[in-house]
Amino acid sequence: MAPKSPLPNLFFFLLLIFSAFSAAIASGKLRSRRPCRRLVFYFHDILYNGENAANATAAIVGAPAWGNTTVLTGMNHFGDVVVFDDPITVDNDLHGTPVGRAQGFYIYDKKEIFTAWLGFSFVFNSTEHRGSLNFAGADPLMNKTRDVSVIGGTGDFFMARGIATLSTDSFEGEVYFRLRADIKLYECW
Ligand SMILES: *[C@@H]1O[C@H](CO)[C@@H](O)[C@H](O)[C@H]1NC(C)=O
Ligand SMILES: *[C@@H]1O[C@H](CO)[C@@H](O)[C@H](O)[C@H]1NC(C)=O
Ligand SMILES: *[C@@H]1O[C@H](CO)[C@@H](O)[C@H](O)[C@H]1NC(C)=O
Ligand SMILES: *[C@@H]1O[C@H](CO)[C@@H](O)[C@H](O)[C@H]1NC(C)=O
Repeated sequence: MAPKSPLPNLFFFLLLIFSAFSAAIASGKLRSRRPCRRLVFYFHDILYNGENAANATAAIVGAPAWGNTTVLTGMNHFGDVVVFDDPITVDNDLHGTPVGRAQGFYIYDKKEIFTAWLGFSFVFNSTEHRGSLNFAGADPLMNKTRDVSVIGGTGDFFMARGIATLSTDSFEGEVYFRLRADIKLYECW
């Protein structure tokens, strides 16, 4: 018996690789990981503390039975719900001209460590940007950076999706903090 030619085997091997490759492309696994748009903003949160009603941009609206809505509760603020309407600026100056408002809420959701859940929109109102971007995700706020999802957008940001890397740019007691949002969109229309 003549030895079998290895050629048909080689052919099937290449066919297999090729079909796996095209399946990966079709399923989007090899899609580019480079953002199609990148934007950086800051937003400023001034929490009501019983005395600063005129300047506050955020308020505790819900607290566990052992707390109250004037002072963040113990146990890493577990159970506190804060609603905010924060100015957004292009640099880290609280008094800079706002380009819109960050509007939504955060919920402190763990007793053992400081961590929160964020759900909010950037509502833009400037000559540069009109429309909104919507964000949601876990915010383990002691971490230097944390990623939340950009789950959609409207107007200039129609159908946008991506990731926002948040970092705490400044923190003054429990009344003021400033977050930097480094927004990377991977879907742009
Ligand atoms: C509130 O804002 C006013 C005007 O910008 C400022 O003079 C005042 O110091 C602020 N008050 C607090 C408690 O931050
Ligand atoms: C809220 O709770 C804090 C302690 O967590 C307490 O010092 C403060 O007096 C309380 N404020 C009100 C209005 O109940
Ligand atoms: C948007 O900006 C314009 C001009 O500064 C202002 O008159 C208007 O009230 C703003 N709209 C909102 C929803 O903030
Ligand atoms: C946040 O930091 C903790 C402790 O440093 C780490 O274990 C965790 O993986 C971090 N979480 C994220 C989402 O980066």
